Amino acid sequence: MTTPSELTLRRPDDWHLHVRDGDMLRAVVAHTARQFARAIIMPNLKPPVTTVQQARAYRERILAALPQDTAFSPLMTLYLTDTTSPEEIRLAVASGFVHGVKLYPAGATTHSDAGVTDIRRCHGTLETMQETGLPLLVHGEATDPEVDVFDREAVFIERTLAPLMKDFPGLRVVLEHITTRDAVQFVRDGDDRLGATVTPQHILMNRNALFQGGMRPHHYCLPVLKRERHRQAIMDVLAEGHPRFFLGTDSAPHPKGAKESACGCAGIYSAHAAIELYAEAFEQAGALDHLEAFASLNGPRFYGLPVNEERITLVKESWEVPGEYPLGGDTVVPLRAGGSIGWRLL
Ligand code: DOR
Ligand code: ZN
Repeated sequence: MTTPSELTLRRPDDWHLHVRDGDMLRAVVAHTARQFARAIIMPNLKPPVTTVQQARAYRERILAALPQDTAFSPLMTLYLTDTTSPEEIRLAVASGFVHGVKLYPAGATTHSDAGVTDIRRCHGTLETMQETGLPLLVHGEATDPEVDVFDREAVFIERTLAPLMKDFPGLRVVLEHITTRDAVQFVRDGDDRLGATVTPQHILMNRNALFQGGMRPHHYCLPVLKRERHRQAIMDVLAEGHPRFFLGTDSAPHPKGAKESACGCAGIYSAHAAIELYAEAFEQAGALDHLEAFASLNGPRFYGLPVNEERITLVKESWEVPGEYPLGGDTVVPLRAGGSIGWRLL
């Protein structure tokens, strides 16, 4: 396919996003609203968003933080704990604004200490989710410290996710931010109730990017970048136009100092240029004709929501990414900081 100089798509959605709260929220949310009509908002605040009442209040804070005249709609999630009740799930479904429940295995990542210690504790709650169709959004990494950090996704799939899906044959599941060939295979082998989100970093970079000329804390996220053959397997399934893989940036802002530290936080900020970065990855793979389905059709189909009617236009025009963006009283270093991106959103 020859590269077009302009690309018009239905307005996309981001099916996995961290916008934080307070000053940070006010600093980042406009970047997402500029491109996306909707986003699935992650609940890993401190304290986490575990109830529908908290999700309602968080949603109000997000709406209040939006610039005037933006039609962006936040799709809320609950943070699953060992004690989330089936009643809370029913309230979530009835709310109309909660669209999923996030499973963080305790200790797997940023603000996951309140997460699930043993999935068997959640069986009653998962049964209600299965019955009502509310999706389980999974951070798929084993937390056993014996497991090598690069194997955590594959081990989680084998030890936890595959058995879980056998126990709950009707449960709808999104395997979030997939990073391995194993995850691609597992989702591909699954049926309509299983989907996956893919971040820009996991199709644009492999683990060499963590050590390019020195330690690169701004390329560190969880699940961590993997080998080239894994990146290739993910890009291959997207280039094929598989209908159950969709856009989820996992854009996760942290203050510059919290990343550039002796114990730096996990998270890559990509909301400033997400759709442009995906366009670049799809162009490299010769798959631009599959970008719209990935970004704007597959997600709504999985979540049972209407597709967006508005259109956006990307032009094949290079622009320089700033070294930093303001982040409340701090700054955040975005993906591709100081470099350039070959597509620009009009
Ligand atoms: O890199 C990550 N950052 N992975 C996650 O799972 C959480 C996220 C965050 O909240 O910073
Ligand atoms: Zn995330």
